[in-house]
Amino acid sequence: MDLETYSNNITTLISGSYITSAITIGKELGLFDELKRLDKPVSSLELAEACDLKERYVREWLGCMVATKIVSIDDSDHYYIPQSLKEGLKATNMVFLYPLLGTLTESAKECFKKTGPKGLSYADMPADLVDLTERKTVNPGAVVEDLLPPITKSLGSVKTILDLGCGGGNITLALSKRFPDADIYAVDYSETAITRATAIAKAEGIKNVTFVKEDVTSLPSDWTGKFDWVILFDVLHDLPDHINAMKEVHRVLKDDGVTSIVDPDVHSHHRDNVGDTCVAGIGYSISCLVCLPCSSSIEGAVCHGIGWGTENKEAFLKSTGWKVEDKRSLGSPFALNFTCVKA
Ligand SMILES: C[S@@+](CC[C@H](N)C(=O)[O-])C[C@H]1O[C@@H](n2cnc3c(N)ncnc32)[C@H](O)[C@@H]1O
Repeated sequence: MDLETYSNNITTLISGSYITSAITIGKELGLFDELKRLDKPVSSLELAEACDLKERYVREWLGCMVATKIVSIDDSDHYYIPQSLKEGLKATNMVFLYPLLGTLTESAKECFKKTGPKGLSYADMPADLVDLTERKTVNPGAVVEDLLPPITKSLGSVKTILDLGCGGGNITLALSKRFPDADIYAVDYSETAITRATAIAKAEGIKNVTFVKEDVTSLPSDWTGKFDWVILFDVLHDLPDHINAMKEVHRVLKDDGVTSIVDPDVHSHHRDNVGDTCVAGIGYSISCLVCLPCSSSIEGAVCHGIGWGTENKEAFLKSTGWKVEDKRSLGSPFALNFTCVKA
């Protein structure tokens, strides 16, 4: 690579991070939703009025969106997103962590320092992280459907489900709707997560889910052989003690039960990720802020984070009593699903 290309690459990456602020504004103030809904180009004033915003600010925002080709402009200075591209707006979900980037960068910097803390448990991270993390999965119902084919192949019926590291309950609540007759349990050690999930379940009148505040390495002793299906959605790489966590999964799973383990799909070896800005670049970066500190947060922690990677994870599962029956992406490279049974 020559010097100019090298420096242009850095400039492009940094410009992306500034533009993310504009994308976050567009997402959170409904500008993208309105542009998606419209079937003809609009002026900045029409867009601002439709979103109940100030026209001058919306016009400046549109300047950024046009420059970056996220929004198109016609000859009469009206703005639109071509119908065939509107579906692509779902890529904007990746901004989910943006509002906390400043705070998380500061705490991560302390963890990097030799004199700083070993890590930071999820339970001690900003409370907003629960809400923001939920936003990465826009359609949890569709994710549950995507998880199902290898499950229904292995299991006749699903009566008992355990969602480990459930966060704010996004996936749990979708499971409860998909399996209204199942007995569903969801565990997280974060008080904020359990409080939020419980409140949403109550508000939605959901009766078949029990939320439990607990560490995944110490599940209730009377759960042995209780579950048909155990799910760890975006959790395993975050754990400081994945060995004891998976021992617990083995214990609470029925002998003919199935476990789904979903994590970002990045390679374990750095040289295999060269040039992969959009998955490995983002994944390792988020990991520096959240996943690595979390998986480093106790004495003797494994310090995995997202960089543990797909190859290392698969080798770990195969060497610890699991047979990987199926491996597939759930519509995103950040959600690679391993369906496993007891070997
Ligand atoms: C990235 S979030 C995923 C949340 C949810 N599964 C989802 O995909 O929306 C990871 C979750 O694992 C929980 N977690 C991490 N370590 C844990 C542990 N040792 N015991 C219980 N929960 C844990 C965190 O509190 C957090 O809610």
